[in-house]
Amino acid sequence: MTSDAPAQPITFTLNGAPFTARADDGMSLMEVLREQAGLISPKNGCAPQGSCGCCTVLVDGRALSSCVVPARQAAGKHVTTLEGFDPRERRIFAQAFAVTGGLQCGFCIPGIAVAARHLLAHNPDPTRAQIREALNNHVCRCTGYVKIVDAIELAGRALRGEPIPDGDFSGRIGTSLPRQDAERLVLGERPFVDDLRVEGMLRGAFLFSAHPRARILRIDTADAARQPGVVRVVTAADVPGERYQGLIERDWPLFVAEGEITHCIGDILVAIAAETERQARHALEHVRVEYEPLAGVFSPEAALAPGAPMVHAGRDNLLSRSVIVRGDVDAALAASAFVESRTFTTQLIEHAFLEPEACLAVPRRGSGFGVRDSETGESEPAPSAEPLAPVLEVFSQGQGVFDDRRQIASGLGVDEGAVKVTLVSNGGAFGGKEDLSIQGQTALMAWLTGRPVKATLNREESIRLHPKRHPMTLHYVVGCDGEGRLTGLRARIVGDKGGFASVGAKVLERAAGHAAGPYRVPAVDIESLAVYTNNLPCGAMRGFGANQAAFAIESMLDILAERAGLDGWEMRWRNALDTGDTFCTGQVLEHAEGLKDTLLAVRNVYYAAPRAGIACGVKNVGIGNGMPEAGQALVKITPEGRIVIHTGFTEMGQGFFTAMVQCFCDITGIDPRLVRVDVDTAHPTPCGMTTASRATVLGGRAVQDAARQLRADLGAGAGLAALAGRAYLGEYRAGDTTPLGAATPTPRTHMTYGFATQVCILDDRGRVERVVAAHDVGRIVNRHMVEGQIEGAVHMGLGYALTESLPLVDGVPESFKLRSLGLIRARDMPEVTVILVESRDPEGPFGAKGVGEIGLVPTAGAVANALARFDGVRRYALPMRDSAAARAMSAGARG
Ligand code: FES
Ligand code: FES
Repeated sequence: MTSDAPAQPITFTLNGAPFTARADDGMSLMEVLREQAGLISPKNGCAPQGSCGCCTVLVDGRALSSCVVPARQAAGKHVTTLEGFDPRERRIFAQAFAVTGGLQCGFCIPGIAVAARHLLAHNPDPTRAQIREALNNHVCRCTGYVKIVDAIELAGRALRGEPIPDGDFSGRIGTSLPRQDAERLVLGERPFVDDLRVEGMLRGAFLFSAHPRARILRIDTADAARQPGVVRVVTAADVPGERYQGLIERDWPLFVAEGEITHCIGDILVAIAAETERQARHALEHVRVEYEPLAGVFSPEAALAPGAPMVHAGRDNLLSRSVIVRGDVDAALAASAFVESRTFTTQLIEHAFLEPEACLAVPRRGSGFGVRDSETGESEPAPSAEPLAPVLEVFSQGQGVFDDRRQIASGLGVDEGAVKVTLVSNGGAFGGKEDLSIQGQTALMAWLTGRPVKATLNREESIRLHPKRHPMTLHYVVGCDGEGRLTGLRARIVGDKGGFASVGAKVLERAAGHAAGPYRVPAVDIESLAVYTNNLPCGAMRGFGANQAAFAIESMLDILAERAGLDGWEMRWRNALDTGDTFCTGQVLEHAEGLKDTLLAVRNVYYAAPRAGIACGVKNVGIGNGMPEAGQALVKITPEGRIVIHTGFTEMGQGFFTAMVQCFCDITGIDPRLVRVDVDTAHPTPCGMTTASRATVLGGRAVQDAARQLRADLGAGAGLAALAGRAYLGEYRAGDTTPLGAATPTPRTHMTYGFATQVCILDDRGRVERVVAAHDVGRIVNRHMVEGQIEGAVHMGLGYALTESLPLVDGVPESFKLRSLGLIRARDMPEVTVILVESRDPEGPFGAKGVGEIGLVPTAGAVANALARFDGVRRYALPMRDSAAARAMSAGARG
């Protein structure tokens, strides 16, 4: 983005008025719109790759990705952004997406709204296929496109004069309350972190390691420090506190120091704060680093070989070993009628959330910080007059603001009370924003300069930095009796951890715990290993180890079914867990009837389609395995009679905030339009992180507790106005769980589980025609959002099955391009039919379970089983790009 050519004035018509910008040869129209015109509806999802469509604007009536339009080409033209749509059109698009549930995180939606307006201007009544085709330059990672197409259809009808149905604002459980901030998100008005601007703000940029494993001999920043606009260059020597951070293991340095050895290409060596982002990035080019490249380890096998280089000095490359042994597997297999043995492999997967990592850190010297009121933006006095020492407010998109705060404060060497972290709901995460990304380095730049600093990664940097879905090798031996009843299972699972631990040990622990799927298996012998390598780091991603195991066990079930002369449905029905059965981990299930309900829900569909593949799924709700889990919610009544619910869990598009509003309003009867949810560390709600499909359960139970307290006061005759200024703290503490392998006859590894059955139906050419997804959700809190979670997860699951991968060569991606990841485009998405099964769970609020992850747990298995029925080829490696189903997709054609 840097250029030596001097910036020249250009003039174009922007939203109907003349606008003059200064642009050089390397400057894009998006940069001008965002940085000079101050518009935020064009979002930066991948610039300068031109692959996501988030920055789409109209240029002389054509919908173009503004990040690849040179700013100078706009001279003399008419540029229209969402801000410039006429008010009626703005209202129609905002309402249409809001009432159909056509958005989740909302980051992609402004660009899609521009494309939709362009389509509808030329084709006022498009078919659904034409709408999907019109979205070909757009990526949505959340929705699976189903409800986006619904929204565009509705907008088209409204533009033709039909009324838009009112949203359901009853706030009751089970209704489709539009999500918090929905209309502002559609219009691009609700800021993401990169949209925030603060007076005097500097911009940060980072230098990443050029080698996955190399000794850093010397870092020379002298020339960089002299570059125009540079205010501060920061290296490891500037970290005043603990330089190594991490959610579980402290193995992730904020900066790698001279003399140290890098772990992967996600290592940061230098940060530069400058007056503009261009200047910061330009200065990075003047940093001189002397490396001594070293041989790395790029597979678990190589990392575990005797004498292998250590990824972390003084630590074994074997990060963790999880073991489950129940019964005598050798005897069980020996007595089995059929025994099959297979090895499966799964691939490295990039989250591809649309909003890259960004952080804003604002020093507030000498004044402390108050508690920001979300409605007014005003700050109240801090709870105590102290401290008056320097403090820092960090605006984070992380999945756990309290974990962010702990690590930021530790890096700065200050008390946690000196740091306030405020959540800016992010543009997608899917587990990839659990770890600290650039919050620590950005906070340090602000701390050292005394000025606000904002930093935003580009797509390549984002791919380097955040942990991915683990590639795994899974060797399975499974037996069954003559009637297809499973008898014993032996599994050996190895996961490539990459350079940092992140939560990888837990992911592999979860893979072990889910190795037998949702089936009764009397004897199991399971071992899973998490192994450090010099590849990109791996950690949490939607499904958290259950997906890899599901691909293996669901394939094994069909293989054994064939031996036993059964079909896929019958095989699963005979083995499905039920209440009172023992789960793989040894936990006796108190509530599992939902699984059989999902099987029954797809029975007819499965038998009616000759090329249908079936798979079931199970996913823990809650981290469990001995970790205490709790939720807190502080409900405050403002002087204006509005309600703010403060909690610690994160909204990242899944609809958590809206679900909390419904949990609150169903009990109190208060209009949901008076209620909003906010997250920051200034309130006594230190719960989080949002992981393991648990936020709805833990947060919802806490909200219920607070709502009941408020309802009691309201029932005693107090009106809301009389309660202004009151606060109600709700809490919920989940029952104890036991660690994996604990020496107890009654292990309870998780508080509860979600179940699902999916059927993948292929057409006569082997293309995916339809996916039917039946899910036990406990209780529907918000129908649109639950459906949207599953539709989006099926989209992600189909990509996992067929087209997605991030191939590495010696620790470096073959490509950093979003377009190369194999994400399935809108036009290639098959029909998705969601069937919601309710079997109220005693743990969850109103009986609800978390559904954030399970949506894609069965998908790859269902696809593999359908493909085997179609062409007779059993596939053991993901993605199944050799299949007709993959080749039929534009994203699959590359491989
Ligand atoms: S930011 Fe322009 S296409 Fe992605
Ligand atoms: S709603 Fe489309 S990327 Fe999140």
